[in-house]
Amino acid sequence: MAPQHGKTLNTHISVDTWRSTIILLKRMVQQLEIREVDFDELKRNLEFTASLLEALYTSGTPPSLDADDDLQLRSDVVPVEVRDWLASTFTQRVQPIRQRLEEKPKFRSIVHAVQAGIFVERMFRKAYSTAMPDQPAEVINCLRDLDRWSFDVFSLDAVSSGHSLKTLFIELIIKHHLNSRFKVPISCLMSFLCELERGYSKHTNAYHNHTHAADVTHTVHCLLLRTRVLYWLTELEVLACLFAAAIHDYEHTGNTNNFHINTRSELAMIYNDHSVQESHHVSAAFRLLQDENTNIFINLTRPEWLELRSLVIEMVLGTDMSSHVLQVKAMRSCLQQHESIDKPKALSLILHAADISHPAKPWSLHSRWTPRLMEEFFTQGDKEAEMGLAISPLCDRHNTPVSQSQIAFMEFIVEPTFSLISDMSEKIVIPLIQDTAGPSPTCSRYRGLQWTVADLVSFRSMWMRHTEENKNRWRDKVKNGVSHSDESETQTGQDTA
Ligand code: CMP
Ligand code: MG
Ligand code: ZN
Repeated sequence: MAPQHGKTLNTHISVDTWRSTIILLKRMVQQLEIREVDFDELKRNLEFTASLLEALYTSGTPPSLDADDDLQLRSDVVPVEVRDWLASTFTQRVQPIRQRLEEKPKFRSIVHAVQAGIFVERMFRKAYSTAMPDQPAEVINCLRDLDRWSFDVFSLDAVSSGHSLKTLFIELIIKHHLNSRFKVPISCLMSFLCELERGYSKHTNAYHNHTHAADVTHTVHCLLLRTRVLYWLTELEVLACLFAAAIHDYEHTGNTNNFHINTRSELAMIYNDHSVQESHHVSAAFRLLQDENTNIFINLTRPEWLELRSLVIEMVLGTDMSSHVLQVKAMRSCLQQHESIDKPKALSLILHAADISHPAKPWSLHSRWTPRLMEEFFTQGDKEAEMGLAISPLCDRHNTPVSQSQIAFMEFIVEPTFSLISDMSEKIVIPLIQDTAGPSPTCSRYRGLQWTVADLVSFRSMWMRHTEENKNRWRDKVKNGVSHSDESETQTGQDTA
């Protein structure tokens, strides 16, 4: 097929040129379908098509163009699939394509969209690279491990001068192309993340701070990737997952919900004792978005915004530990009954699993998280003692069997949750592999799915290996008589790793 180079491109593009371009496009689609693609030729033809569109666009609005009916993309001239191809390839699916077609757009409006899409994409890429100075080599080095389960968020925090949440969130939304897909203004993103990190420091918690939020955000990314559930999700759902993880403990007070309820705190009054902290995290984070300087979702369409908000609310409320048993039972029964899996429920379970994931990570990480959490619990216990209240379970710094509590937490909470996540992922992902096993996968995003079964098996054996090893470490401590809170070694798990 000869490329259509050499034709004069002006505002009076002849009907014949349009027809041959359409034929050219159809041929390209056919070649792609049968996978007989000459990339050089494809590139030349795409360049030609782009230059044709560009000529039309840059010519402004010549009267002849508006008057010429032949220059409209009428459905009898251009097949739906070509229009879909044009719009989806060049517009980054800014709007649902079907909706546009129903509106019977003129060709010029598609050209505008194509041009605008490319322009906006370039603009956002430029804005991000200019606004973000080169990262220090140590940060870049640390982020190389981003897709690994053993990613060390403490190191990232150290090399990013205490900005692990900000650094990680930006990295992840760029990695998943969400900044350009949803046109997230870089200035809003920077301001939003500054506020978010500030909110996480409000109560100077040993555990519930921005490093924990960064850890959970990384773990959600890693879970989606490792379980391949990522391939089941839309871009908006991925954005919702990362955002929900980043905000999931925003402005945490360092106390448990029961403490709020028992002390009749201001938050308990506002939220009527229901998921007191979680309601606050999600509400306060959305309040941040009310300011246009921090509204990272300013360019989402209304339906996108509503869908994202509803998903984020459900996911963050699902991190309330009191809903653990219900969540696990509901998903287990869904799998046993062979019912279809509800996406918001699956994503809530993934965020919940990420939130309790450190016992399923290498000991070098788990042993640093545990003393931080215990210290936060003990600080609450001190307050309870001061207030003359009964000290909550695990909150007595002089009498808490830390090692045993960790073994029990792993056996009764962490392992069943991760086992469920593994089963659920198989149920979700295996049909996707079967769908894409034929000659023409429905979507190029699915091409990596072929080796998924092995990945799912290795994910299961990885978290099982870590929980087993961690339990053994705690068992050794029990044997060696360092199992209680008042034994110094449990306070500095970092040094015992
Ligand atoms: P949060 O991060 O708000 O939500 C999950 C909760 O699980 C967390 O608070 C802790 O209360 C609890 N949690 C997480 N890890 C452990 C652990 N290793 N031992 C006991 N409780 C934990
Ligand atoms: Mg929480
Ligand atoms: Zn948390």
